Amino acid sequence: MLKVDKLMVFYENALAINELSIHINEGEIVGIIGSNSAGKTTLMNTISGLLLDTKLKEQRKGGERITIFGSVSFIGNDITNTWADERVKMGIVLSRERHPVFVESDVKENLKIASYLSPKNKFKEMLSFVYDLFPALVPLRKRKAGFLSGGEQQMLAIGMSLMVKPKLLLLDEPLLGLAPTIQVKLIESIVKIRKETNVTILICEQFARPVLPIIDRGYVLENGMLALEGTGNELFNNPEIKAAYFGV
Ligand SMILES: Nc1ncnc2c1ncn2[C@@H]1O[C@H](COP(=O)(O)OP(=O)(O)O)[C@@H](O)[C@H]1O
Ligand SMILES: [Mg+2]
Repeated sequence: MLKVDKLMVFYENALAINELSIHINEGEIVGIIGSNSAGKTTLMNTISGLLLDTKLKEQRKGGERITIFGSVSFIGNDITNTWADERVKMGIVLSRERHPVFVESDVKENLKIASYLSPKNKFKEMLSFVYDLFPALVPLRKRKAGFLSGGEQQMLAIGMSLMVKPKLLLLDEPLLGLAPTIQVKLIESIVKIRKETNVTILICEQFARPVLPIIDRGYVLENGMLALEGTGNELFNNPEIKAAYFGV
């Protein structure tokens, strides 16, 4: 469904992604495991097209700071040079790192804003799907997003990504900064999303332990390079992964 081929990304002279090739099959949950600065967000932004938008913005300001080599294809189309908003329409949706939401708008308004690219008649259907997936959001629907806890904001951010009925959902460190009990709930929700929609999911995390049991396959990124790949099971039982990514 998605193929990233020989991707290289430079910020000025610093290499953030080095000759990385990955693929995702339709219906899979695929994980990218990597510590801080491994290149996870750069990869997510490359797939969503945000990196291309950032590159253009910087060019307009007169700088040429970001260099991208390699290609990205999605359902047989080369999307290497496709803008982020076009990719959203094609079904690629990113839930960004640190769950940005519109803090001055309430929960329902956030979900409404997020649905603007989807057919209007789907709003109610998707809204009830999101509330069903995250019942904790129901009593909070009139609360300003800025007053939600980190876990609630993360649920809202993922809910917002789902409003446009993505084909490929990209989750950039959804567990970051959340209490372990909330992490467990979110992981269960991710499994449920896959079960109840036919969305394909790519999830990036530095904490491998909660993620490896739910992924079909995973890639381990170190300094922008592919260090290891395997099934969720293989990675879970790999002693090096346990030592490096299971934390304490
Ligand atoms: N906008 C940027 N400008 C310059 N360097 C960046 C930028 N974003 C990321 N980097 C660098 O690229 C590398 C990969 O970063 P990132 O993709 O954010 O990794 P991760 O999400 O795994 O923490 C890091 O060395 C980081 O410092
Ligand atoms: Mg990141």
